[in-house]
Amino acid sequence: MFPQSSVNLRSISLGIILILLSTGFALGQREHVHALDSGIEVTAGDTTLRVEALRDDVLRITEGRGSQMPEASSWAVLADALSARVHVTADRAPTGGGGFHTASLAVVISPDLRLTIRDAAGQVLSQDAAPIQWQDRGFTVAKVKMADDHFFGLGDKPGPLDHAGMSFTMWNTDNFGWQESTDPLYKSIPFFIEFHGGQATGTLLDNTWRTNFDFGHSKPAEYAFGAVGGPATYYFWTGPDPKKVVETYAWLTGKTPLPPMWSLGFQQSRYSYETEAQLMTVANRLRADHIPADALYMDIDYQLKNRPFTVNPAAYPDLRAMMAKLKQDRFHVVMITDLHIANLPNAGYMPYDTGVAGDEFVKMPDGSTYTGKVWPGPAVFPDFTMARVRTWWGGLYKQFVADGASGFWNDMNEPAVFTYPTKTMPDDVQHRIDEPGFARRTASHLEIHNVYGMENSRATYDGVLALRPDERPFVLTRASYAGGQRYSATWTGDNSSTWNHLRMTVPQLENLGLSGFALSGADVGGFAGSPSPELLTKWIEVAAFQPIDRDHAAKGTRDHEPWVDGPQQEAIRRRFIEERYRLMPYLYTVAEEMSRTGLPMMRPLFLEFPHAAKDGHPLDNDATGEFMVGDKLLVAASPSPEEVAPYEVHLPPGEWFNWWTGVSLGVRQAAAARDLELRDAASVQKPLMVTPKLEDLPVYVRAGAIVPIAPLVQSTDDTPQGPLTLRIYVPANGSGAACEGSLYQDDGHSFAFRAGEYLRMRMTCSVGQDGALTVHFSRPEGTFKPWFSELRLEVFGFAGSKPQSSAGVVTAVREGVWSLTLVRPTAETEIVLR
Ligand code: GLC
Repeated sequence: MFPQSSVNLRSISLGIILILLSTGFALGQREHVHALDSGIEVTAGDTTLRVEALRDDVLRITEGRGSQMPEASSWAVLADALSARVHVTADRAPTGGGGFHTASLAVVISPDLRLTIRDAAGQVLSQDAAPIQWQDRGFTVAKVKMADDHFFGLGDKPGPLDHAGMSFTMWNTDNFGWQESTDPLYKSIPFFIEFHGGQATGTLLDNTWRTNFDFGHSKPAEYAFGAVGGPATYYFWTGPDPKKVVETYAWLTGKTPLPPMWSLGFQQSRYSYETEAQLMTVANRLRADHIPADALYMDIDYQLKNRPFTVNPAAYPDLRAMMAKLKQDRFHVVMITDLHIANLPNAGYMPYDTGVAGDEFVKMPDGSTYTGKVWPGPAVFPDFTMARVRTWWGGLYKQFVADGASGFWNDMNEPAVFTYPTKTMPDDVQHRIDEPGFARRTASHLEIHNVYGMENSRATYDGVLALRPDERPFVLTRASYAGGQRYSATWTGDNSSTWNHLRMTVPQLENLGLSGFALSGADVGGFAGSPSPELLTKWIEVAAFQPIDRDHAAKGTRDHEPWVDGPQQEAIRRRFIEERYRLMPYLYTVAEEMSRTGLPMMRPLFLEFPHAAKDGHPLDNDATGEFMVGDKLLVAASPSPEEVAPYEVHLPPGEWFNWWTGVSLGVRQAAAARDLELRDAASVQKPLMVTPKLEDLPVYVRAGAIVPIAPLVQSTDDTPQGPLTLRIYVPANGSGAACEGSLYQDDGHSFAFRAGEYLRMRMTCSVGQDGALTVHFSRPEGTFKPWFSELRLEVFGFAGSKPQSSAGVVTAVREGVWSLTLVRPTAETEIVLR
């Protein structure tokens, strides 16, 4: 129903108006309305506002000045989404202007070009506070903000998860030692989620220039976004479920591809393991100390004089032999390959020579090649906006791929240039665009800067894939743009070894995950500075539950490896890294979901529980240290990790089990409202109080969860020995459908899953009137044969005192926890415990 704007299609007067609209008849004094099959275009003064429906729930909004509408091209939005259109129904706007509706949204444009978007129930989702304001070459779009609006996304912005009341700039910047208030940082993801009352919408400002976002900072009743140049093009869509908003963002900009499983293992890095001997010592120590690990990083010092794609033979005399040894020891090596090519004419430096021969580098307006100083000294910069340059760049990986490197690290790709206070290349550097959808033209760096890093990682991803077509590439990038998740994982750059930086990893990685970068990490232990033993230990604990778990450190800082502070600290650190490896079947299942849906692995609570609080505020604003891993585990890190006093843990409503002990905390009610006056003591629950201990990290699991875990291994390349365990958490009040879970497995590295070589098992359980527990396995999907031939069920919260099953012997693991081992079901199967 569209109470305010719906029309009776049978009415004659509307028929006339529709004819007038579709012929572009001018209504009112100034505006000119043109109904489109998939939207509307209204011109008033020198501005044209066009709104098109890509889907019933997704709009593309473009504003143009004069007769010029922006090119329908995008670095971020996928071609299929860009060209998608649905038919809409034109609506009469009683006061002039125009409008239309789809099954989910109704659009009204006022005569002065203010846009209002409502949902199908007539509720306003978005309303321009003013017509677009043009400034010089730029523009600002301002929207009405409600008092209880919350804002999430925008990529790697540090500070609180909720951006309400704050303002930000997007301009990819190398910010060594950034702090909580530093802005901008390395990435530009001009996408945000607006959330209020449990409902969410998404907005993507698809503009690569320097953009800005103000969420009620300058005007409390408005939020605004704009750019200094480029197209006034944005996408708006409704969930209303926040998960749906994230999935739709993935529909627009793509998903993180399924990564190789080893990249979910523990990764050890430092700037730098300067010699083969040092790297091998670290590898050997990890194995000797039984600290599970999968990846080792080679930072810039492996190169000859910091020249990308070279190897210093004195430091790493035989890369291929070393990689082979490490491979045997089940390690994967990730090599840094920065984009700044040393400016070395006539020196036999292949990347430079072939780059010059192929005209691959960016130029100044006078046609000379641009040079700027970075690690190798004077350097030249590939023009990644051209497809043929990306192909040339991809070819540079041939040798390292042949030597056996598993992954590649694209750093300094904002691009960082040391010469200037701006830390990047001059605005007038020229890029030659050659990209489907774009006119072939020369663009200034002002336009390309924010996509430069993404196109660098794209060139790497595509290049490595072309060289090794049967292996999933792993690329780690520092700079990126919306859509960059299609090519690479990312990290939060040069953070610091402080408690506050550990705390900030949670909101920052959550916002990255909401912004498409589902595979993200922060340097464990902090990059700049030297962590205290306690800080490093706590950081290793928390990071064990974050998507990318990479320990990394700057030059000149103390060692960071897990063993450096003696056996007591090491034992705690090992225990958490081990837990990550036990959870690998769950993590990998969550990663596969990410690759299919775009949902992040690490999730803020509001994503899973949008209605958790009585007044609709996101629970995360109370619980700033907490995050979910997938939809089943909740990690409750301290909101102020340096404190020794007890802290509050806010659990979403429902029943939760302690992950470590398996004990249920009982059924919890909705969380309190933030405003004390709204608190209704009888129907809300007080937060839990947790006393922090160095060796503990509270982790909870949702009742109704089925979580797959595996026997411990030292590398994801090892085959676990023994059965796969399904931990089943039966809800206390569960009668009827009570729990669910799934397991996804494949070979972990190739694309064979695309041809059906995977295994997906879906499990549910239900509790009968008589208290009997039925575990149901649907028929497994796929042809992949997993490492386990047996399944071990571990049942928590089963009400009976001594259950039995016809499927096998039920044994007590400990009080209240029962186990039963069975042959892996290959057909639909039911197991009953009574
Ligand atoms: C940059 C990176 C850092 C790396 C260093 C040397 O500072 O952010 O991770 O170690 O360069 O390559």
